[in-house]
Amino acid sequence: MITVSAPGKLMLLGEHAVVYGYPCLVTAVDKRLYVEAEIIDANEDDIITPQVKESRFVLETLSYFKEKFNIRSSIRIKTRGDFSHQVGLGSSSAVTVATFEALNILFNLSLSKKEIFDMSYHVTLLIQGVGSGFDVAVATTGGTLCYVKGGVEMETLSLSNLPLIVGYSGVKADTPLYIRKVSEAFKQRKNEMTTLFESISVLVKKAKEFLISENFKEAGALFTENHTILQKLGVSTPILDTMVAASLEAGAWGAKLSGAGGGDCMIALVDNEKKQTVENAIRKVGGEIIEVKVNTSGVTQEK
Ligand code: MEV
Repeated sequence: MITVSAPGKLMLLGEHAVVYGYPCLVTAVDKRLYVEAEIIDANEDDIITPQVKESRFVLETLSYFKEKFNIRSSIRIKTRGDFSHQVGLGSSSAVTVATFEALNILFNLSLSKKEIFDMSYHVTLLIQGVGSGFDVAVATTGGTLCYVKGGVEMETLSLSNLPLIVGYSGVKADTPLYIRKVSEAFKQRKNEMTTLFESISVLVKKAKEFLISENFKEAGALFTENHTILQKLGVSTPILDTMVAASLEAGAWGAKLSGAGGGDCMIALVDNEKKQTVENAIRKVGGEIIEVKVNTSGVTQEK
């Protein structure tokens, strides 16, 4: 039996703009999705997943893989996760990448990480219809990436420290809905939206340099600017805005929503000395602190 795990993700900067071909920054987190795969003596595959949502991704991955590589054996896939899909840390992309890699090892195919990414992105698009693939990319490579849609660019940033706090808003976001919302706005107000995406892209490029040089004060200011633009895009919510404002008042270098908007999480870049104060401020306005380590390893076989 093969066991493989892949990490969840946190979008740092550049959400939505990345869907339109601009770069984003994304980091892998230490909440992982585990996939066990084995060949079984049975007439049918056996898929055991605790979360219904994940089973769709496993099923689609398995049928794509079997058809592409002409595999006739029956396979048992069992998944388990460190995290709930509720908080938006990317369990669907992690389970897809981990399943492909487990099958890759099980059938000795020596597929490259790029091939695992391409197939996983294809499968997530089949199911979700929309998305840049940033979550699939970082589940594959791990670390922190500067990413451009479709894997056109996947640059690993050399970071030794990324002092982030994650606050969950208590609301599950509907990512495809918010992607469509922005796309409708884009159709109606193309020039205005393009200007906003271009501004986001400038922030992403600057933030990348500031994060590499550990100039967190400057990077934080860009996080907050990115949040302001996301508000203009119409994807923030009162609770996310309140959590961001509370973090800033409590002394965070910067804060923003992370992901599609409409719920899920916000992130704050915070000096270690102020960590506790900022976390308390987030809790006080109704947010839940999610303990995560960032910049962690990509898809990997477990011993
Ligand atoms: C969602 O977490 C981030 C978006 O940019 C969508 C995507 O890139 O797939 C809104």
